[in-house]
Amino acid sequence: MTIRSYQNIRPRIGNNAYVDETALVVGDVTIGDDTSLWPMSVARGDVHEIIIGARTNIQDGSVLHVTSDNQFTPGGFSLHIGDDVTVGHGVILHACTIEDLVLVGMGSTVLDGAVIHSRVMIGAGSLVSPGKELESGYLYLGSPAKKIRPLKDKELAYLDFSARHYVELKNRHLKAQDS
Ligand SMILES: CC(C)(COP(=O)(O)OP(=O)(O)OC[C@H]1O[C@@H](n2cnc3c(N)ncnc32)[C@H](O)[C@@H]1OP(=O)(O)O)[C@@H](O)C(=O)NCCC(=O)NCCS
Repeated sequence: MTIRSYQNIRPRIGNNAYVDETALVVGDVTIGDDTSLWPMSVARGDVHEIIIGARTNIQDGSVLHVTSDNQFTPGGFSLHIGDDVTVGHGVILHACTIEDLVLVGMGSTVLDGAVIHSRVMIGAGSLVSPGKELESGYLYLGSPAKKIRPLKDKELAYLDFSARHYVELKNRHLKAQDS
């Protein structure tokens, strides 16, 4: 795995976290306990911080980045991802906030300053535009992402299942590394 310091800030990796050996984690990045970063994912905390909670999975090829403090974006934007979040394959999360138990569908993009409240599902291939706030308990889809309908009980249960499933899966990968 490639975990690199940048300007003397070294990524902090939680207990039993799994960072695939092809993933790249740079600079001011905090990764919570039991969280997993899958092949070819990137978390680049160079111009602001990235904080990822516990039991979250960042699937293959996803890119996490932040926005600098400059004349166009005073103060910049950090990236905060909560606990038990599923980030599907090939997702871009840029300088936004993702609360707990969210599923970001594969191939989606979430732009600066957007806030995804807890228990939201974003359909595959969606684009959440800058500064948008997605209401808890709903399915959002499309480009730009629009509120579609409340999540069904089965889908709400799936958010939790998905996070737990990925914790089990990363445990199997950690074990396979040891053998
Ligand atoms: C959106 C989603 C949850 C399905 O929701 P659903 O309400 O069961 O949708 P349905 O499959 O019944 O489809 C309803 C309509 O939405 C469309 N649709 C489904 N998913 C869509 C998507 N991601 N974006 C745009 N339209 C979509 C369907 O084509 C269908 O259109 P139609 O009525 O014109 O035929 C699912 O398609 C999805 O995107 N899941 C995300 C999976 C994922 O990325 N997981 C990541 C971990 S691997």
